[in-house]
Amino acid sequence: MISAKIEKALNQQVQLEAESSQIYLAMASWTEVEGYNGISNFLYKHSDEERIHMLKLIKFLNERGGHGIIPALPQPAFKYKGIRPLFEQVLNHEIHVSTEINKLVDICLKEKDYTTHNFLQWYVSEQIEEEALARRVIDKLKLIGDDKGGLYLLDRDILTLETAVSAGRDK
Ligand code: FEO
Repeated sequence: MISAKIEKALNQQVQLEAESSQIYLAMASWTEVEGYNGISNFLYKHSDEERIHMLKLIKFLNERGGHGIIPALPQPAFKYKGIRPLFEQVLNHEIHVSTEINKLVDICLKEKDYTTHNFLQWYVSEQIEEEALARRVIDKLKLIGDDKGGLYLLDRDILTLETAVSAGRDK
């Protein structure tokens, strides 16, 4: 059984994961319209992953005697200034998510809720990977600069970057 305090904190995280999914969906749609099909697929996939992050929280809440609440969501931006500002937004967003996960972990320790603490370790690892991936894309974009050919290649190869980051992860 989880405490009311943990239940509330986990439901705030449900909201953040749902917002993440919506933001990446908006980014996926914009990049698709702009003709970046590879980057668009990458972002659609990320949007789906965020939804899974949200679902895991809802299931955990419900299994532990709480109630996962489905939140209302603000409309994300639907236009972006370019691919690099878009990925900088992704990185900043993921850093924010990591901060919130860390706060949740801290609450669990203070409340001596070791079950939820254990559950959250998956999110701690996931955030390391998500931040690393966004940084990897931004590093490539810095190298590319204004070279349209470079951007074309990144669009073609972006899904392989994800595989490279996952392969480097300690499991
Ligand atoms: Fe589920 Fe990207 O945070």
